[in-house]
Amino acid sequence: MRILGGFSWVSALTLSVCLIGNGVVQAQNGSPSQWPLHDNGLNDVVQWDHYSFKVNGQRLFVFSGELHYWRIPVPEVWEDLLEKIKAAGFTAFAFYGNWAWHSANNHTLDFETGAHNFERLLETAKRVGLYVIVRPGPYVNAEANAGGFPLWLTTVHTITSKHLVTKGGTAFVYQIENEYGEQWVGDASKKVPNESAARYMALLEASARDNGIDVPLIHNNPNMNSKSWSQDFAPNATGNVDVSGVDSYPSCWSCNLDECTGTNGEYVAYQVVNYYDYFKNTTPTEPSFFPEFQGGSYNPWGGPEGGCPGDIGADFANLFYRNLISQRVTAISLYMMYGGTNWGAFAAPVVATSYDYSSPISENRKIDSKYYETKNLAMFTRVAKDLTITNRVENSTSYSTNSAIATSELRNPDTNAAFYVTIHSYSPSSTKESFQLRVSTSVGNLTIPQRGGSIFLNGHQSKIVVTDFAMGKQILTYSTAEVLTYALIDGHPVLVLWTGAGESTEFHLKGATKGAVRSQSVGATNATFHADEHGILTSIPAVNGMAIFEFDNNVKVIVADKPTAYLIWAPNLSNDPFGPVDKSVIVVGPYLVRSASPDGHSLSLKGDILANNTIIEVFASKEVRAVSWNGKGLRTQRTPYGSLKAGVASSTPKITLPSLDSWKVHDSLPERLPTYKDDGPAWIEANHSTTPNPTKPDTLPVLYVDDYGFHNSFHLFRGYFERPATAVNLAVQGGMAFGWSAWLNGDFLGSYLGNSSVGTANMTLSFENATVHSNRSNILLVAQDNTGHDLRAAAVQPRGILRASLEGGASFTKWKIAGEVNGERQQLDPVRGPLSEGGLTAERLGWHLPGFDDSAWNSSSPSTGFSGAGISFYRTTFAMNIPTGVDASFAFVLNAPASRKVRVQLFVNGYQYARFNPWVGNEVRFPVPPGVLNYAGDNTVGLSVWAQSEEGAKVDVRLEQEYAVESSWSSRFESEYLRPRWTAERLQYV
Ligand SMILES: *[C@@H]1O[C@H](CO)[C@@H](O)[C@H](O)[C@H]1NC(C)=O
Ligand SMILES: *[C@@H]1O[C@H](CO)[C@@H](O)[C@H](O)[C@H]1NC(C)=O
Repeated sequence: MRILGGFSWVSALTLSVCLIGNGVVQAQNGSPSQWPLHDNGLNDVVQWDHYSFKVNGQRLFVFSGELHYWRIPVPEVWEDLLEKIKAAGFTAFAFYGNWAWHSANNHTLDFETGAHNFERLLETAKRVGLYVIVRPGPYVNAEANAGGFPLWLTTVHTITSKHLVTKGGTAFVYQIENEYGEQWVGDASKKVPNESAARYMALLEASARDNGIDVPLIHNNPNMNSKSWSQDFAPNATGNVDVSGVDSYPSCWSCNLDECTGTNGEYVAYQVVNYYDYFKNTTPTEPSFFPEFQGGSYNPWGGPEGGCPGDIGADFANLFYRNLISQRVTAISLYMMYGGTNWGAFAAPVVATSYDYSSPISENRKIDSKYYETKNLAMFTRVAKDLTITNRVENSTSYSTNSAIATSELRNPDTNAAFYVTIHSYSPSSTKESFQLRVSTSVGNLTIPQRGGSIFLNGHQSKIVVTDFAMGKQILTYSTAEVLTYALIDGHPVLVLWTGAGESTEFHLKGATKGAVRSQSVGATNATFHADEHGILTSIPAVNGMAIFEFDNNVKVIVADKPTAYLIWAPNLSNDPFGPVDKSVIVVGPYLVRSASPDGHSLSLKGDILANNTIIEVFASKEVRAVSWNGKGLRTQRTPYGSLKAGVASSTPKITLPSLDSWKVHDSLPERLPTYKDDGPAWIEANHSTTPNPTKPDTLPVLYVDDYGFHNSFHLFRGYFERPATAVNLAVQGGMAFGWSAWLNGDFLGSYLGNSSVGTANMTLSFENATVHSNRSNILLVAQDNTGHDLRAAAVQPRGILRASLEGGASFTKWKIAGEVNGERQQLDPVRGPLSEGGLTAERLGWHLPGFDDSAWNSSSPSTGFSGAGISFYRTTFAMNIPTGVDASFAFVLNAPASRKVRVQLFVNGYQYARFNPWVGNEVRFPVPPGVLNYAGDNTVGLSVWAQSEEGAKVDVRLEQEYAVESSWSSRFESEYLRPRWTAERLQYV
């Protein structure tokens, strides 16, 4: 998780005298025999060295991405996401645990109910065929709750240990702590140990080992300065892990670029960073490993609507992930691959509801250009076996005929295969450059392309040019187009190359003597063939669509332009995470291919179809005579060059959505009225005169909600005083973007509307326009929301009232507090979990839940709204009937057409899936996943509408379709267990 005060990013840039273009970097060459091969001393299932990880003796390029199961609380949907990650050519995925999700209080640990059962995630990973990077360490509130921490970790260790690669599962490394770069006091180079941090790490490690974790333990340094827990940097130091990685967010980690200016000047887009020297100096005998590398950016309150896909989209993925490869990185995990949603109270104060993160897979699960761009590189790394053992020979502009281009040459010392990673010398440059490249191959030193044309970098782009690329027994001497993938089909390579539409391409195939164009789409390629003593050079003046070449050494080459290559897939007939090339097939055409499996002489393909008429072309064994798509046999034709082609007519139905125009309404703030009785179990008397919190209150009693067992979302405070007063002075703290309002004896006093970067607000509210009693109790009601607890040490910052004092001689005589039902004492709703609701009347009484009877309520719609300040709760129900065989995604879109001084929570079948705060944020579109939405029956929508001013509130609510595709992954499934209904025990919390 990447929320830092800029330290690591700024320091990264300080170190990043960008070497590219600045001449030769001293190479750290060698051969595998010169570098020690490590294991963790327990087994040799997972090993590692200077070059890469090895699993069961095989070198693995780790291309991984992070997803948080608790940010998508529907286990059925995890399958969709893992299939998309697998289809993109990834070999692994990573996940964090979340203590708060599993532990509602000090006597509950839930790893079973609904989406708390993350074993389903590990089982799905095994079935889909992905290795897993397990990262259970709590990253929120760790210090504050250290007492309960080992207990929770122990449980996770035990659950996970069954799924380790050493025991038949796919979890292959295990992260101890996260971004805990605390091994050294002060400057890491002085190596002054931080003894307590070391003991803490050693304890965590012992706990993992004692509970059966026998895969390598890893750590993720928060930046390149912390140099913590590396066995290479400080041999045998207490607390070291087996493999120490580092994280980096070279583009702004936030969608608000203003957050990324530091003392070192402005943030520069597409500025790459030097990691090579860091790895060389800090972890030379370990793989260069990013347990987190920027997969996107979070969107803070006040950030742009929809995140920042433009800043961190397909071009970012293209350039930066190749740049890692140019620096010899062989293990990358993208944070995030799928961000999901900060539903309920999952958000830290800085982030809004969406955790889309502008990731390759969007919050609504859609895949688009960034996913495809990432896929095209990951597919390459999965088959480029020589990439797992390379030295960086040189990094300079001398390779290219154009000084605007810098090249890193990586060479495999065993096979002499090389990878030339090209980039603009000044990486932020977005010019279109053409050049020839000087390469050294087994047939001599060449300047390529040799027969006319150029290599192009078009805008923010990088390309990897391969030489002596192995495809089974055959060798591609070089190609100016990039390798997408290859498969060995009936023992013979089918290679896929790709380049920009309209660009020229040249490749040389060793050992062939004759070649022919067998098929080309519109825009003839006019390819020419040139035989020489080593093989055949194929020159293509312009690549458009797709062309197929066949050579007399039984190699087929598919050359595709970028739009075509985005839709080329290499599903595997096994669930081996390595994706063995001899069990691979190549499929061209669909929006997504999730899997391929043999079915007699037929090949059963599963995936998603977007376009109305998609032509599928399959390169598979000649034994395969027919193809089925999502269980339906296709009319397949064999092409002259041996592939199978068929048309798929998509039958995605039109889905008609309800208009949500029949609503019920009820006041949800009776607590402001003097007649309201606060003597029920919902209320706790706030009578503490001391607090364990390091921040002490200005006035007593202590009015910190956490001290009374309330932690999330909404809190209500009722303060009593018996004598007349003229005003109240309040300091309230709720985290950035929070708000509060106050009433005296039912009369509105005022509100703090919120600010995206402010978490505390002081106000003096006059009683001038309110009724003040002199002969009976006066009751002040303060309603606040809480946008979560801050990260790291700031996690203990209190939520609630820091100061409450009356002016005019009176004092408060009593305070009562209400929050989420039962606070931390006893959960009413274990399925939705401890972060799912706050302390509004509507939430305590369960009005947000399906099954609550609102028949006695008045009819009125939120778009009609109400006048005056207050909080109302609206409910509506609607039915959905989404067909099976479709993956459909929906979002609620909210709008406040009158006053922006409103705060809205949207509940969908009891899950809070939106905090719509138009005064402080721009987020208006809130995707809600299937399973939370009932695609096969009734849905209940609840809306708490808080008018923070006398202007009142109006809110429009629409349900919109995000996408619908015909899919083997059906978004309609049995999910009733995730939506428990209202029960009468709620009634007591009035
Ligand atoms: C658990 O928390 C409750 C308050 O919710 C407290 O009274 C109790 O002492 C705690 N128990 C332990 C073992 O810490
Ligand atoms: C680290 O410990 C191992 C095993 O006890 C020992 O062989 C090695 O020499 C130690 N290395 C250093 C640098 O102290």
